[in-house]
Amino acid sequence: MRGGARRAAREAYDYLSPRLGAPPLSSNGHERAAEGANEADGPLSAACGRAVYTRRVLTRPFGPTGVKVSVIGQGTWHMGEDRRLKKDEIAALRLGIELGQTHIDTAEMYADGHAEEIVAEAVGGQRDRVFIATKVLPSNASYKGTLAACERSLKRLRTDHIDLYLVHWWSGRHPIEETMRAMVELCASGKTRFAGVSNFDVEQMQAAQATLGKVPLACNQVLYHLRDRDIEKDVVPYCKRERIAVVGYTPLARGGFMRGAVADVAKRLGKTPRQVALNFLTRRPSLFAIPKATRPEHVRENAGALDFTLSPRDLSAIDAEHRR
Ligand SMILES: NC(=O)c1ccc[n+]([C@@H]2O[C@H](COP(=O)([O-])OP(=O)(O)OC[C@H]3O[C@@H](n4cnc5c(N)ncnc54)[C@H](OP(=O)(O)O)[C@@H]3O)[C@@H](O)[C@H]2O)c1
Repeated sequence: MRGGARRAAREAYDYLSPRLGAPPLSSNGHERAAEGANEADGPLSAACGRAVYTRRVLTRPFGPTGVKVSVIGQGTWHMGEDRRLKKDEIAALRLGIELGQTHIDTAEMYADGHAEEIVAEAVGGQRDRVFIATKVLPSNASYKGTLAACERSLKRLRTDHIDLYLVHWWSGRHPIEETMRAMVELCASGKTRFAGVSNFDVEQMQAAQATLGKVPLACNQVLYHLRDRDIEKDVVPYCKRERIAVVGYTPLARGGFMRGAVADVAKRLGKTPRQVALNFLTRRPSLFAIPKATRPEHVRENAGALDFTLSPRDLSAIDAEHRR
C-alpha cells in the first residue's frame, strides 16, 4: 500500500474498527420489495457458465433520485493497491458490469486515488451504463476542499460527472454546512448528479439534509452485514420514512462466516450462503449492497444473489439466528 493510502486507511480503520466489532442488534421485521425483489430484470449472460450465476442484477429506484440503480453493486476498497492485481481488478469490475452490477463504489481514499483510476479503466467506453459513487475524505471536506477533491476524482475517473458524491464519514474538522454548500454547488454545476453521506447517524443525516436545502439527501452508505445489523434500529426506519437509499457496505463481512441458518437455507435453495446473505440484506426497497470482489467466481456468485426468493420462513430463520 502506498504512503498516503496507508495513512488514509489507518484513519478509516480508526473510525470504523469500533463499529466493525460492534455486536448485532435486532431486526425490525421483514418487508419484501414492492417491485418484486427477486425478479431478474435482464437476459442471461453469455459471460457465465452456470445458470445460478447468470441472471442480471435487479435494479430499483435509488432513494429520492428516481434513478434505477443495481441493488447489488461493486465495491473497490483495496483495489489499486497492488499493481500486479490491476488487470484482475479491471476484469472483475468489467465482468460485474456485464452481469448488471453497474453501481460502482469507490473513494478518493482507496489506494490514494488509484482505485478511482481502476474504475476509470473498467468503465471506459460504457460510462452511460454505470452509476459511479465516490467519496470525499472528511479531512478534505471544507467548502473549497470538497470542490477541489471532486475535481481530482473527476480527473482520475476520467469522466465529466460523478453520479453520487458522498462525505466518507462525519467530519470533526469541517462544519457540515461547508461540505454541503459545496455539494449543492457541485449538483448545480452537474459535476455530480446526487449528493449523499456515509457512516452518518440519524442526527447527522438530519443536519446534512437541513444544510442541503432543496437538494435531496440521496443515500447513506453504512456498515451492514449479518453480524452487524445496528442500522436496522434507527437508520433504516429513518431512511424509509425520508425515502433515502441505504447502501450496505462490507455486506459479506469480508468473505467470512456464512454458517448456520444462512448455510441451511442456501443448501435447500441450491444457492450459496453468500447469495442468501446478499438477498437477505437487500430484502427491503430502500436497501442496496456493494460487495467487493476481484475473483471472477466471486463476482458471478454475487451477481446471482437476487434470482430467487427467500420465503418468510427463510427470512425468519436467518433473522432469529442473527438477532441479538
Ligand atoms: N463507506 C465506508 O466507510 C466503507 C467502508 C468499507 C467498505 N466500503 C465499500 O464497501 C465495499 C465492500 O466492503 P468490503 O470490501 O469491506 O467487504 P466485503 O465486500 O464484505 O468483502 C470483500 C471480500 O470478500 C471477498 N468476496 C467477495 N465476494 C465473495 C464471494 N462470493 N465468496 C467469498 N468471498 C467473497 C472478496 O474477495 P476477492 O476480492 O478476492 O474476490 C474480498 O476479500 C468496499 O469495497 C467499499 O467500496 C465503504
